[in-house]
Amino acid sequence: MSQKSIAVLTSGGDAPGMNAAVRAVVRSGINMGMKVYGVYRGYNGLLNGDLKEMNLRSVSEIIGNGGTMLYTARSEEFKKKEAQEKAADYCRSMGIGGVVVIGGDGSFRGARALTEAGINCIGVPGTIDNDIACSEYTVGFDTAMNTAIDMIDRIRDTAQSHDRCSIVEVMGRRCGDIALQTGIAVGATAILVPEVDFNIEKDVIQRIINTQKTGKKHFIIVVAEGVGKKHYKHSARELATYIEHRLGIEARATILGHVQRGGSPTVRDRVVASQMGYKAVELLKNDIGNRVVVMREGKITDLDITEALDMERVFDMDLYKVAMTISI
Ligand code: ADP
Ligand code: F6P
Repeated sequence: MSQKSIAVLTSGGDAPGMNAAVRAVVRSGINMGMKVYGVYRGYNGLLNGDLKEMNLRSVSEIIGNGGTMLYTARSEEFKKKEAQEKAADYCRSMGIGGVVVIGGDGSFRGARALTEAGINCIGVPGTIDNDIACSEYTVGFDTAMNTAIDMIDRIRDTAQSHDRCSIVEVMGRRCGDIALQTGIAVGATAILVPEVDFNIEKDVIQRIINTQKTGKKHFIIVVAEGVGKKHYKHSARELATYIEHRLGIEARATILGHVQRGGSPTVRDRVVASQMGYKAVELLKNDIGNRVVVMREGKITDLDITEALDMERVFDMDLYKVAMTISI
């Protein structure tokens, strides 16, 4: 029997820890007796034949690096059925029987399509947003939050020196998890997320006034980018202008942006990425495809891709209540 071959690719937005997942897939695959190919620039690599056979040393010294050594891409072409068939034919021509796709839920839709075209695929959740309903955790989330709190601690130094209000927008697409946990960790006076309706007067202005009464003179407001996307007038800049006019205190807006996507992954991201990469290879080794590796109740397990994609995200309202109670 010929040696089993698998491939690994990263797709969608990069996230710190993707390299650790690639390393785990390559090393697990080789150590389980398989040939492993690294595919460059997401699904595009399968359409252009842009891949390379990896060895144990190809993934040396990458576990601590941000970004992805395989590069990543958003491939519009791959959404077409003909492209998916072409990629599946290419995999067959290379003897590749399985592909590990590290990315977000868009990438998982691609993985399902490629499985339907005949190549077993396994998804591994890699995105800073933590917005994948089927998994309690996505690789990159912890690092992004640690970067955000480091940046906000710096912003606090200057806000404090000037008795100012700083409004900080964090990433997360439509998900408020980065904002919620980061907001708690920096002691934000208010945290605005797209999952919870709010009233600016009650949930921002009144909270600032209440803390002013206790002697506080500088304020951090954390806003999820999804809030500004939903209502432009609630973007960080608009909020800063509103607070200045309404309360007569100086306010400044900072959009943290892509700084949150880079940097060396934290222990948590390195370890979870390693566990998830290993689990993905174990499934492919057993000829199992169309699954997503997930974290549920703190354990690494797997789910059917369609079942996973149909799940609805549940925002952690208990944690939100904690934040609202202790931040004044
Ligand atoms: P993420 O994986 O971070 O959610 P995207 O939504 O941009 O990022 O998806 C990444 C890539 O996955 C897309 O550029 C495309 O190549 C592929 N993809 C997304 N949706 C589909 C789909 N419905 N069918 C096939 N491929 C898809
Ligand atoms: O999904 C990760 C993410 O960084 C989101 O938080 C953000 O909305 C988006 O990607 C930004 O995408 P781009 O890198 O294309 O600007």
